[in-house]
Parts: sequence; structure tokens; C-alpha cells
Amino acid sequence: MIGVFDSGVGGLSVLTAIREQLPAADVSYVADRARAPYGARTLADVEAISHDVSRWLIDRGADCLVVACNTASAAALKSIRREFPGVPVVGMEPAVKPAAASTSTGTVAVYATAATFQSELFESVLSRFAEGVRVLTRACPEWVAIVERGVIDGPEAEELVMAALQPAIDADADRIVLACTHFSFLTPVIERISRITVIDPAPAVAMQTARVAPTAVGSGLTKLAASGDTDEFAALARELSGLDIPVIRFET
Ligand code: DGL
Repeated sequence: MIGVFDSGVGGLSVLTAIREQLPAADVSYVADRARAPYGARTLADVEAISHDVSRWLIDRGADCLVVACNTASAAALKSIRREFPGVPVVGMEPAVKPAAASTSTGTVAVYATAATFQSELFESVLSRFAEGVRVLTRACPEWVAIVERGVIDGPEAEELVMAALQPAIDADADRIVLACTHFSFLTPVIERISRITVIDPAPAVAMQTARVAPTAVGSGLTKLAASGDTDEFAALARELSGLDIPVIRFET
């Protein structure tokens, strides 16, 4: 079984991509909404939480982990791999490489959480891939908050997206890197408002999962678990990802 987790609904964008790539795999998804948003926490805190969630999934049969959260990946990917050496772990990395390789204006904009921007992972991505390219960064906790309420279009979403995109538009950025899984749900609004090319890593992460998952063939089962209000998460999963299934309680 493939275990996938995020602080909330964001990783459902990755789950959908995994379902498309691996229709026969069994996948369990945890939304740790009681401790969200991760992006406002310290990296050490997110690291400890990420270990908790990983252990819970492994105890329930996960033989591959997908950290469907950029913040948790930045905080904990290395140490999760150390703690569970037998389990392949796939994580998110800000997609600066394809953005820098394809920009025509020489300016790209990265949208993520404050914690992700503070991480060594982000520094290392910049130094490896962004030489000679101007990289604008913007933390958008307000985008996380609306998506977590299921607001992914309409006047409120448009207003918040516009406000955060304006500096990128003014700076002539021609690539937007979505380095928080929640933001994938805002892609249609972002593209409508800015006409800047959006780079969403979810399909690449699903492809990597297909490469490393030991049991990519199961019964095609999807299970959902959440901390916090399970009914509310069930409604959001239905609305955002068309998953009409019960949600079990996740607690550590
Ligand atoms: N979805 C998470 C990410 O990819 C962050 C949301 C949060 O702040 O909890 O970074």
C-alpha cells in the first residue's frame, strides 16, 4: 500500500495524479488537519509531526511513502528516509529546475509556505538550478487557508491570487512554480488571471512513485484518514477530488 500525507487537502492533488498513474495500487491518504497549517510551524516541529504520520501509515501497511507536502518534504524527507530505511520515500521539491530551464524572460516566481522558504532544501534547489535566473519568492498562507476551506474559484480566490501574483506580473516572470501542494487547486484561477505558465510537480511525483513503489498492483483501493473534523474532510475530498468515501480518524 502507498501511504500519502499532507497537512490537509493539498496532497489530494498528488493523490489524484498517483491514482491516474497507478490505478491498481492501494493508496491511503492522511490529512493532518488538526495540526495544520504546517507552513507556519518551525521546521523541527514539522519534522517531528511528519515522523508521526509516516509511522502511522507504515504501521498500517504502507510499503512506500509519498510526502505530498512541500513543507514536510523540506523539513523531514532526509530523516524519514533514515528512520525507515526499507521504505521508498517520494517527496516534493520546488520545481525550480524546469522553470529556470524554460524561462524566456529570465524571471520565475516561486509560491510556497514560509517554512519551505526557510529550508536547506530550498537553498539547495536555488544553488543547483537557478544560476543566472531571477527567482521571486512569495509565501502565501492565505492561499493555503482558502483551499483548506474548499474555495478554489470565485471572487475571494481571484482577489487573493491577484494580490499575490501582481509582483510576479510586474517583474515579467513567465514561469510560476507551485511549491505547496495546496496551490495546485488554484491553477485554473492563476492561469486565467496571469497567463503565466504554471509548473505543477504532481504528475512528476506520481511518475516517481510508480517507479519506486514495491506494490503498485493491489485492488485499486483508496482510503482516507484525517485528524480534526473527519466529516468536514470527507466533504472537501468529495468536492475537490471527487472522492466519495468515508474518512477514518487519524490520531497519533
Ligand atoms: N500543502 C503543504 C505544502 O505543500 C502546506 C500547507 C500548510 O501550510 O499546511 O507545503
